[in-house]
Amino acid sequence: MATLNLNLAFICLHILAVCQAQHVKVELEVTGFLGSQAILRCQFVDPDESLKVTQVSWMKDSAGTKVNLAVYNPEYGTHYAPAYEGRIQFRQVSLRDATLVIGQLEMGDDGIYSCEFATYPDGNQEAATNLTILVEPVNSGKALLVKAGPAEVPLAVCTSANGKPAASITWKRDVAGNVSTTQTKNTDGTITVKSHFTAVPSGMLDGETVTCEVTQRTLEQAASIPIALSVQYSPIVTIEGYDGNWYLKREHASLTCNVKANPAATEYKWLMNGGPVPDSVEVKGHQLTVTEVTYDFNGTITCEAVNSIGEGHDKMDIIVRESPMESGSTTGAIVGGIIAAIVILTVLVTAVLIFKNQRKNVTAEDDEFEPPNYKPPPPKPTSTELSKIEKTEVDKMESVPLNTTYFETSGEDDNGMTLTQYYDEPGAGSDLKSPNDSAPGEYLEQENPIYNDFSAPEDQHRQSQEFVSKGMYV
Ligand SMILES: *[C@@H]1O[C@H](CO)[C@@H](O)[C@H](O)[C@H]1NC(C)=O
Ligand SMILES: *[C@@H]1O[C@H](CO)[C@@H](O)[C@H](O)[C@H]1NC(C)=O
Repeated sequence: MATLNLNLAFICLHILAVCQAQHVKVELEVTGFLGSQAILRCQFVDPDESLKVTQVSWMKDSAGTKVNLAVYNPEYGTHYAPAYEGRIQFRQVSLRDATLVIGQLEMGDDGIYSCEFATYPDGNQEAATNLTILVEPVNSGKALLVKAGPAEVPLAVCTSANGKPAASITWKRDVAGNVSTTQTKNTDGTITVKSHFTAVPSGMLDGETVTCEVTQRTLEQAASIPIALSVQYSPIVTIEGYDGNWYLKREHASLTCNVKANPAATEYKWLMNGGPVPDSVEVKGHQLTVTEVTYDFNGTITCEAVNSIGEGHDKMDIIVRESPMESGSTTGAIVGGIIAAIVILTVLVTAVLIFKNQRKNVTAEDDEFEPPNYKPPPPKPTSTELSKIEKTEVDKMESVPLNTTYFETSGEDDNGMTLTQYYDEPGAGSDLKSPNDSAPGEYLEQENPIYNDFSAPEDQHRQSQEFVSKGMYV
């Protein structure tokens, strides 16, 4: 009984309306999109027809007071509140079904509605439905253009505008930062949610992507909006291409001025020891080519780049030699080559030794997977001796399971005798145990080297096959 009461209480918690008014059945919550229609179901359940319904009506809770929307009385007919005229209607005129249809839903239709049955002799019975108007939000995201600096500022904003209910916005990012979200209730009852991604703007963040995800009841799946951050910073400059081998009269030595900047650098400038570069150069954008190297290039070359945020530069120390370094580098290459060859040879030899060693181990390990009564042989000095012992051990074991298998598969009694004969005939027990025996035409004798390497079950199988074929001749 206690369990039953508990269950009843449980049901009542879930279907509150039904418990409050046993006879009035409604849906606790109904949703409808702005401009479409909503159906507020309401039925009077009275199986034994013990009550007489005299009137049905719908009311809306408005700021704590109930406003009449629709009434049906068999004597006086139906009546709808003038404010709703043309938008609301009983689905059918009935004292048992008071279902109400609301068309062209407006934001103001959001709220709690009560369905009421006037009965005799029990009096009024009612149940409430919560109508929620849904509005799909307009989602967007954008990067905020900022300049690199030390203070944390918003770098991106994601907006979910004019939705109902309020959307929730989350950020997916690999970039460290904070999030601040605000909600604004619009006059029409919709809600606009704005979320800012904030961080300390550094040039490093420029071009990084953060993604905002908007979830809301009307969205089948979260709206995912990737945003590429845009942080403006002064040029970061690196000079590349110096090979350390600039010598007198060398032609076409070149350097590249690599510039990262937002916005893009508008101007490149090469300087030699703080002054203008010598005449024998060609400058094409960020590329500098020396047509003929002279001692004028002995010193420091600078590349400067400028954008609207500021200036950046890099310096490179150049040493001009009298003659190319080639001879030195050739000797170096030969010495290097010889060392490399020695190293490679050593590695190869070691690898071969290790491999050989491992193969021995592998053979021993494989044997361990054979029948459980097998005991690994102690290490032997020579491989021939080893193989002899292994073979003998394996042979011993094979003779036993072979016999059993044979009898099991044969099944028939009259054949059993013959089969046993075959079995003794090749002398699986005796012959196999002495591998040095030169038993004529013995299958295993020929296969000895392989037999040693492969696992026992395979050989067992082959053996039984042979026995069967012999049996077939008889
Ligand atoms: C996030 O906010 C906290 C507290 O305001 C601040 O200490 C932290 O530096 C911020 N993180 C980033 C990446 O800006
Ligand atoms: C080139 O510069 C180096 C130092 O950067 C200096 O030691 C050397 O004497 C210079 N050579 C010539 C020919 O000026």
